[in-house]
Amino acid sequence: MILLTGGTGFLGSALLARLNRMYPEKPIYVLVRAEDDDHALHRLKESNKSLFLKDSKFAKNIFPIAGDISHQGLGLSGRNKDILTQEIKSIYHSAANTHLNLGIDEATACNYTGTANLLEFAKSIDNSSLNFKHISTAYVAGDTTQTVCSSNLNINSLFRNSYEETKAKAEKLVQSYKDHFSVVIFRPSVIVGDSITGNTSAFNVLYIPARAIYTGLLKVIPAIPHTPFDVVPVDYVSRIIAESEAMSFENGACFHLTAGVGRESSPAQILDLLINAAGKYSKNNLKHKPIFAPAEFLSQESIQKVIHSVTNIATNIYHTQTFKHFEKILGNRIPLLNQILPFIPYMISNPRFDTKMTLDKFGPNGLPPLFENYAETIFKFCIESRWGRVQTAQ
Ligand SMILES: NC(=O)c1ccc[n+]([C@@H]2O[C@H](COP(=O)([O-])OP(=O)(O)OC[C@H]3O[C@@H](n4cnc5c(N)ncnc54)[C@H](OP(=O)(O)O)[C@@H]3O)[C@@H](O)[C@H]2O)c1
Repeated sequence: MILLTGGTGFLGSALLARLNRMYPEKPIYVLVRAEDDDHALHRLKESNKSLFLKDSKFAKNIFPIAGDISHQGLGLSGRNKDILTQEIKSIYHSAANTHLNLGIDEATACNYTGTANLLEFAKSIDNSSLNFKHISTAYVAGDTTQTVCSSNLNINSLFRNSYEETKAKAEKLVQSYKDHFSVVIFRPSVIVGDSITGNTSAFNVLYIPARAIYTGLLKVIPAIPHTPFDVVPVDYVSRIIAESEAMSFENGACFHLTAGVGRESSPAQILDLLINAAGKYSKNNLKHKPIFAPAEFLSQESIQKVIHSVTNIATNIYHTQTFKHFEKILGNRIPLLNQILPFIPYMISNPRFDTKMTLDKFGPNGLPPLFENYAETIFKFCIESRWGRVQTAQ
């Protein structure tokens, strides 16, 4: 029996579908933030519609249960606690607060304390053959341009935000439970939609600047054009993690699920691929090709100053006629700028991720496709779904 957290999320829902398809005989309990189990089922159906189609023979072995990892004991009902304690063999921990601009306390509550609560729960099961699969992020490496090996973790790195920092601390904590059960860690880089269908349920991270460029809101791109930018599709990440269910690992093994050194994309390449898809699948030929901002303007501090002053001006004149005028001009740029800001460091410099351990363990299956080979599918989906606003046939 499997326990999955984060099953309503972008990666978690893909992982749930994959685990269910690959191991239909295995019951999967999915911990969902909800008032009760019925509400948990409702939430899971909403986030994973194709899995719960009426004629689907698959979903019958999926059991959503209400819970919250930020609570000690996970907020489980007594009955669910009993079931899980007796029968769980594998835990896949995908739940996290993935916002890049949180205060440290809020990020800690989910990413660190939530992981600690789940680890304590796993320990209480008292089963040394239990497998704990932790979904981390390649960006636990922090603010470095070095090539990082997946066997390394430096929790004293300079981190670019509370997300990186709390995920790094959580990873270290997971490793410290190795004496109680077997742990395996997966570190994906930036995850985008499905490489075959383009489908995505989340239009964040890479999609935010891409959409802003597509809609013409972002005319000057705050990025260094040839910075290595590591992207992987969600079908690759979910497949590798799900394959791990049928494999055995050295206790504490850690795998980069990344494009890897020399196979990364870059802001310049992403822009070209977006322009190409826009021309092919819409009437938008991005006539005025955006330019890249000069490197000297690209410090986090200077960009933050611009955002603050724009936001302050807007706030101070909010009730005045002048604002109504400004709103027309600036309105949708202010929230957009705020969304893009936390993402800017990733467009300026990045670590590179060594994939030797992944390729050694998973063989050729461990190699994700190159972004340039599926970007058109990704952007086609964005354009046809109007960046998530309309349902497509997929
Ligand atoms: N997406 C990426 O590009 C990326 C890249 C590298 C690593 N990762 C890692 O992959 C994992 C999944 O990411 P994602 O993109 O799927 O994130 P996501 O779409 O933001 O989903 C987060 C999931 O965590 C759940 N969750 C949050 N707080 C919770 C709590 N207190 N108790 C129980 N569940 C809680 C959410 O439930 P609700 O529906 O209730 O909010 C949701 O199901 C994370 O560990 C993330 O760090 C993601």
